[in-house]
Amino acid sequence: LHRLIYCCIYIITMIDYQSIKEAPLVNLDFFSQWGALPWQKFLEIGIGQYLGKDLSGKKILEIGPGIGRVTSLLAILGGDVTAIDVKQSSIDDSQETVKNFGVAENVKIIKYDGNLDILGDEKFDIVFTKSVLIYSDDLRGFLEGVNDHLKADGKVVFIENAKGNVLLHLARWIKRHSISFFKRTHYFTQTEIDLVKSIFNIELAMHSKFPPVLLFCGKKK
Ligand SMILES: C[S@@+](CC[C@H](N)C(=O)[O-])C[C@H]1O[C@@H](n2cnc3c(N)ncnc32)[C@H](O)[C@@H]1O
Repeated sequence: LHRLIYCCIYIITMIDYQSIKEAPLVNLDFFSQWGALPWQKFLEIGIGQYLGKDLSGKKILEIGPGIGRVTSLLAILGGDVTAIDVKQSSIDDSQETVKNFGVAENVKIIKYDGNLDILGDEKFDIVFTKSVLIYSDDLRGFLEGVNDHLKADGKVVFIENAKGNVLLHLARWIKRHSISFFKRTHYFTQTEIDLVKSIFNIELAMHSKFPPVLLFCGKKK
């Protein structure tokens, strides 16, 4: 019986990659991965509207692909994507996801140690992050490195977690139940917002209250 139940769960949760690929921008709930509306809305605005629905010919750097869903979205829209992550499991998961979408040929996935020098003198049209910059211990240094790898007319889209109020912070702590997680995570406050604005020419910034998420769309200064 448990095999039957396992099979049923497997069938119900099977992902129809082909249908999602055929209409990527109406499946942003899938690509945003965590479901909550602000993440989907900011993907729609940041990618669908700000970067455009056709990314053919664009060299894109995605930092911290996680399980590779946005990586796949950027490649489905035509981008030539390089995705870099510090965690081997993220590299493996991302490789699996881009393969499932049939876009592996347009994606290069690289494990690195957090130092952007790995990119040499390569320059990109677009740099994208979602829920990644919050892990940086030296955000200024990291963003300056990102800026160095942008072409003169290059664009950035960052979708990052904001700190929110005390209650939310407590709820996050209860959920994670880990002091080390909070030591590693620097949810964005006004300081980080100002820093991003000082390094890039931010053309559009949005903030959702719940969950607290920030969207930055901008260009190299
Ligand atoms: C919360 S997950 C987000 C994954 C994905 N961007 C998404 O939105 O679904 C954070 C990811 O960033 C990666 N990461 C953390 N610090 C990083 C860094 N300095 N450079 C690249 N990746 C990093 C983690 O390994 C993980 O895969």
